[in-house]
Amino acid sequence: MSDKLIIFDTTLRDGEQSPGASMTREEKVRIAKALERLRVDVIEAGFPAASQGDFEAVQAVARVIKESTVCGLARALDNDIDRAGAALKDARASRIHTFIATSPIHMERKLHLSPDQVVEYAVRAVQRARQYTDDVEFSPEDAGRSEEDFLCRILEAVISAGARTLNIPDTVGYAMPEPFGRLIGRLRQRIPNSDQAIFSVHCHNDLGLAVANSLAAVMHGARQVECTINGLGERAGNAALEEIVMAVKTRKDYFSCHTAIETREIVACSKLVSGITGFPVQPNKAIVGANAFAHESGIHQDGVLKSRETYEIMSAEEVGWSANRMVLGKHSGRNAFRSRMTELGVEFSTEQELNDIFFRFKQLADKKHEIFDEDLQSLLTEAAAEASEEEFVKLVALEFCSAMGENPKACVTLKIGQEEHQADFSTGAGVVDASLKAIESLVDTGASLTLYSVSNITGGTDAQGEVTVRLEKGGRIVNGQGADTDIVIASAKAYINAVNKLLAKLIRTHPQTGEV
Ligand code: KIV
Ligand code: ZN
Repeated sequence: MSDKLIIFDTTLRDGEQSPGASMTREEKVRIAKALERLRVDVIEAGFPAASQGDFEAVQAVARVIKESTVCGLARALDNDIDRAGAALKDARASRIHTFIATSPIHMERKLHLSPDQVVEYAVRAVQRARQYTDDVEFSPEDAGRSEEDFLCRILEAVISAGARTLNIPDTVGYAMPEPFGRLIGRLRQRIPNSDQAIFSVHCHNDLGLAVANSLAAVMHGARQVECTINGLGERAGNAALEEIVMAVKTRKDYFSCHTAIETREIVACSKLVSGITGFPVQPNKAIVGANAFAHESGIHQDGVLKSRETYEIMSAEEVGWSANRMVLGKHSGRNAFRSRMTELGVEFSTEQELNDIFFRFKQLADKKHEIFDEDLQSLLTEAAAEASEEEFVKLVALEFCSAMGENPKACVTLKIGQEEHQADFSTGAGVVDASLKAIESLVDTGASLTLYSVSNITGGTDAQGEVTVRLEKGGRIVNGQGADTDIVIASAKAYINAVNKLLAKLIRTHPQTGEV
């Protein structure tokens, strides 16, 4: 058995299924490039049949990624497979990942299909996908609650039809490590042609066991793990890539396999995904949390100073914490700026695009002494949002005042469509509250604000504050982000970003529920 563990990243597909985490095509391309630098083996770029936008995003990723295989998800339906095949046409290496549910509850209540029909759909889907690429993956959805004999039957049939990766998903996060690991071992033993395929796992984190279940499967011969940066994903998320990779690396005495991941890129990738999706990373999150390598107690600090190994099992450098991130300042010129952007994988298609970001950089450098990679990424996120056709509402001006013992007030001017509108001064519990009320008085979305969070992009009191706002209306959830050295302005930008997403008429199909 190969000792290479394939890392299949699904941040751009399952990760995007987290409520509010939807990404634009440009954002997906930036994350895909970061995943390529991380040396991920397979990037699942999306579900092309979901909408025209999703199709174009997968196509754009397929066109720029050269080192990783680019994968598209497809239900076991002709149209889904044809859309995936078309979206991946220009990829240097492509994979189609097709799936159908195999648990009794899903077959009966969701699909209304008999087990025989499900096998038929699966085989047909794999055969059709093979017309587009030799690299076809099949998943029996909800395998964690499927009958083992039926799994053996359908998996044997899809291998004969040409599937080369068999992915066993614990769709609802129900599995326990020991039995899940043993299931993988038994499937490998019982399926007569199992040696023709690589076994993979895809675990959800509803009980906090996604990483444990995935690693148990690795111990029983799984040689691909599907995971996401920061554990992003549907509901409680997927197995976190950084945890899988570092567990295998740090405990190579235990796991008889290795990954190809460039671990020093992990933190940068984590920050990029968090910044783009607006899902902050909890400080005590393993590997990528701000406290993951911080030592609070005096005893620990003393030990670490004497010898790092006393309390640390990995080094912060190994996962990219202390990479020299201080890049540019007020006096940096266009060439230095362009070359750092190139190192970050950003290519400007026109001189105008470069000029625009460079201008934003100069404005920021006037306010802030040192510009870090994370600052540059936030400038790109902001510029991309402003350039998108979905930017119907724009912030023109914001004035606010606050003094102890007085009511904070804010007044805003917005460009809505082609017209400028100014709100009267609104009051609020603080200037952020007053500003958001002033904006809402003009845009009148009627949406509820379900999340407001602020984090600092880098250190220091001159750091940019990054604000995430989540709005919900009629069951639709959107996240908006904004960054600025002034958190009131960052909050206004984030609110407007969320409003624009809410106003965009986005129609897409969810791959698993089929809902639009
Ligand atoms: O969780 C799941 O079952 C999935 C499949 C589409 C693989 O995401
Ligand atoms: Zn999933």
